[in-house]
Amino acid sequence: MYEICPETPADEPEVEGLYDLCFAPGRTALSSYRLRDGVPKVADLCLVLRDGSNTVMAAIRFWPVRVGGKPVLLLGPIAVHPTAQGEGLGGLLMRDSLARARKLGWERVLLVGDAPYYSRFGFARLDDVVMPPPTNPARVLGLELRPGAWVDVVGPVTRETFPDAGKLSRGANDLSACVTVDHPKEDTDARHSATGASADQ
Ligand SMILES: CC(C)(COP(=O)(O)OP(=O)(O)OC[C@H]1O[C@@H](n2cnc3c(N)ncnc32)[C@H](O)[C@@H]1OP(=O)(O)O)[C@@H](O)C(=O)NCCC(=O)NCCS
Repeated sequence: MYEICPETPADEPEVEGLYDLCFAPGRTALSSYRLRDGVPKVADLCLVLRDGSNTVMAAIRFWPVRVGGKPVLLLGPIAVHPTAQGEGLGGLLMRDSLARARKLGWERVLLVGDAPYYSRFGFARLDDVVMPPPTNPARVLGLELRPGAWVDVVGPVTRETFPDAGKLSRGANDLSACVTVDHPKEDTDARHSATGASADQ
């Protein structure tokens, strides 16, 4: 069993530790971090997933940015503890946070990442949206939470300057509760164990 909760200030050291573990040193030197500096996160969408022993196994964060003057969610970083990668936890956090974003009235999401992974959640390349350099344009991906939300939304990605942008919500907004979820691949693991094909320990 896992518990997914909105990130609190008390979670921050563990979440930062997970990101340091999962990403190359100097991750905060990436150009995408310049869009985040000094801008509050979208707190309702930053989620922490803990296992039964209360260890942080995965985390996802979002920031508000602008493209062509329109509000956009910048997804990331997302990371899953190396001992649990490939077990569906990343997918759990992606789906849960995007569902929350939709409920809150956000219309479009942006990320910089591997299209082969994120396309399974509906992300596709955004040809005319420009992240601060150096960013490989092929890794600039977008998702519409409302049909047509990326149409004619083009240009450079810029920092959000409205201080409360991350707090804006137009829909259901009681997303503060934690949710308990089963291991996403429990059935698969059980099947593998039954056939003697369980993963290496
Ligand atoms: C990328 C990451 C978040 C995915 O989470 P996860 O829990 O390991 O992935 P899931 O179990 O949900 O999905 C596994 C599937 O995604 C695929 N996948 C994982 N990372 C991938 C990548 N970078 N490119 C393509 N496919 C990828 C796996 O091959 C697997 O495919 P399958 O379902 O066909 O077997 C996680 O592996 C991670 O933290 N990696 C290190 C940090 C990172 O790269 N973060 C993303 C950049 S912000």
